[in-house]
Amino acid sequence: MKPLIRIDGIEKVQGKIQVPGDKSISHRALMLLSIGKGPGKIKGLLKSADVLATLRALQAMGIVITEEKDGVLVHGKGLYGLQEPVDVLDLKNSGTTMRLLSGILAGQPFTSVLTGDDSLRSRPMERIIKPLRKIGANIYGRAGNSKAPLVILKSSLKGGVYQGVVASAQVKSSLLLASLYHKDSFTYVESQRTRDHTERMMEYLGIPIEVEDNIIKMNRNHPLINSDKEFFNKDLEVPGDISSAAFFIALAAGRPGFEIIIENVGINPTRVGILEVFNAMGADITILNERSLSGEPVGDIRVRGKTLKNIPISEERIPSLIDELPIIAVIASQAEGDMEISGAGELKVKESDRIAAVVEEMGKLGVTIEEKPDGMRIYGGQRILGGSVSSHRDHRIAMSLVIAGLLSTEGVRLSGEECIDISFPDFFSVIEALRKS
Ligand code: S3P
Repeated sequence: MKPLIRIDGIEKVQGKIQVPGDKSISHRALMLLSIGKGPGKIKGLLKSADVLATLRALQAMGIVITEEKDGVLVHGKGLYGLQEPVDVLDLKNSGTTMRLLSGILAGQPFTSVLTGDDSLRSRPMERIIKPLRKIGANIYGRAGNSKAPLVILKSSLKGGVYQGVVASAQVKSSLLLASLYHKDSFTYVESQRTRDHTERMMEYLGIPIEVEDNIIKMNRNHPLINSDKEFFNKDLEVPGDISSAAFFIALAAGRPGFEIIIENVGINPTRVGILEVFNAMGADITILNERSLSGEPVGDIRVRGKTLKNIPISEERIPSLIDELPIIAVIASQAEGDMEISGAGELKVKESDRIAAVVEEMGKLGVTIEEKPDGMRIYGGQRILGGSVSSHRDHRIAMSLVIAGLLSTEGVRLSGEECIDISFPDFFSVIEALRKS
């Protein structure tokens, strides 16, 4: 058995760091440039296990992707340039790849079979199967069309209006991508606003798309539309991932004396829930150098440690900080008062059941958190003592526990840390650099 890695408490945090490219944007960039026409370079692409799953799947369908000095070059073949994969596409741990790619594959004149690891095969897929079937897709899944492996056959897609049931950017994006493959107008109404990277990138690439609040229209009568919906590629630049930055924002936010600047981070309004919550808790967070990168807002995030006071987090905020809830829970245990997180049932169907994982593992470190059916109650003012914990093979749980270790009095031993590769391969190097600065 691999030895557990040890994370000791950190006395001081002071410095400037960078985090790798945004995972959501990286997936979308690879997929959209593969079905756009001509070459398109991606600067700052995240090279992590999840994004590699997308890259390999596209390569398996004949897309040539080459490594250049200053980025990754995708040789797009247009909407109908993908080739039938000769084998099952193994998408490993990546839910985003499976759900978004299904939208593209529903529009192809060939058969594809999609699978993944134990975690991905246990995650809910009826949320894309049902709506894709509604617009005419021949898509099937095991367990009564609810789980992967998925099979997608040649289909004839149609448009219409789809009212979103689950607040999920993955479901929305799957349908928006599928709508490139039919001749009708298509409207997606979101039940709650979720991350809008697909919409922004489509707009950036010149795909006619209109967004008004929670209504997204791919309009056939749009003056810009061409008859076959083909679009030409442009170079793209991916900002740093706020969900990766979150671990360092959290590390510094609640400890007076700690200060950190994280450069070049995406601050898309649909993703900044963690900044809003920490600010409402009394944090000192400033955005410096605000600018725009390929249609996405970006800035440097400066965090100065303060004593924080807990606030409740309820359903309307959840989509804007869904991936940050485990690390927010760690920090809430250090703040004054209690934090009640509700309306966050989606946490149970991520790479692991993140409610159960946080409660169980933080418990092993001496921190009491109560599990609720759709969230958790975190008691504030606790000390993170230390102990041995497990990642549940979930990258965000693993990194949250490492930060808990840095804030602990006796140190944390972690098993299963290799899953951090899913989204942040250099995570430990950034921590080492911080320890030395
Ligand atoms: C993602 C959307 C979110 C998020 C996931 C990435 C995306 O999932 O949790 O890490 O890139 O669209 P849901 O759409 O299922 O909420």
